[in-house]
Amino acid sequence: MSELKNRVLQLLQETDGSVSGQELSARFGVSRTAVWKVIRQLQEEGYTIEAVRSRGYRMVVEPDWITQERIRSFLRTDWAANELLILNSVDSTNNEAKRRAEDGAKHGLLVIGEQQTAGKGRRGRVWESPAGTGIFMSLLMRPDFEPSKASMLTLVMALAVHSAIERVAGIHAEIKWPNDIVSNGRKVCGILTEMSAQMDYINHIVIGIGINVHNEEFPKELSHMATSVFKESGARICRAQLIAETMNCFEYYYAAYLERMDLSLLQAQYDQCLVNRGRQVRVLDPKGSYIGMAEGISPEGELLVETENGLRRVSSGEVSVRGVYGYV
Ligand code: BTN
Repeated sequence: MSELKNRVLQLLQETDGSVSGQELSARFGVSRTAVWKVIRQLQEEGYTIEAVRSRGYRMVVEPDWITQERIRSFLRTDWAANELLILNSVDSTNNEAKRRAEDGAKHGLLVIGEQQTAGKGRRGRVWESPAGTGIFMSLLMRPDFEPSKASMLTLVMALAVHSAIERVAGIHAEIKWPNDIVSNGRKVCGILTEMSAQMDYINHIVIGIGINVHNEEFPKELSHMATSVFKESGARICRAQLIAETMNCFEYYYAAYLERMDLSLLQAQYDQCLVNRGRQVRVLDPKGSYIGMAEGISPEGELLVETENGLRRVSSGEVSVRGVYGYV
């Protein structure tokens, strides 16, 4: 950014009301045409700057850029997101994180895409990822435990996103087992975890997180089950802050997970957030679906469902769970 543009931007950001063109040109020792050109450039970059003939220029809306500086100003982690890769456009941040992992990237790399051209959801679905609306990010991990323990990390991340959304946006959110974050019964975040492993050794894990942030509407076919932070809170939160807070919370919960190598220290908190708890759910098992009452999770992250034939322990890989009357 040119020095003049930087200084004009800073002054507009610091000023509550308007600043006249004359004042700007006098303060920075440039012509009023030069000031006007800089204002035009800022408007083209996405800043909404009101220009009123008699009063001057006023900053109305600043674009919600995701930058290294902004993220780092909120980050308090030891390892998570210690390396940041921010891309304007990427096929899928999960794919990019996996490619980087193959090239030797370290535990803790966080890949962020402003938009994804081939965003992936669970079960082969597409994750719509237009620029400027959401958070699309993937955390690379190289943990030193057995592959069989890895599926629990998705629940740890769900807990982290849940806490971060509540803290940053102040909205009430819940978790739909195992890893959807919902608000008022609609999905605000999805998580896709992928692993590369040998029989007894994890090469790497990529946890991909998609959060609907600024979306004002959704395609018709999604509108009954999708929502965004903006739709729920009415506020334009800072995406960089939500990214950093998710990493802060993840690192904290991950330490609790490592202490016991299961979710026993997080189980009570997870159950408190569980939207299905105490509700009738339909378990869509390939071997036959059944209905029961969701009671909470086990220390291994299974959903405990009380059925007429006794307690069933549902593992996330094989099945999906729906409310009896709809998505939640
Ligand atoms: C789901 O189906 O609920 C999971 C959605 C996960 C989407 C995120 S967006 C960032 C990362 N990159 C992808 O391609 N998918 C995940």
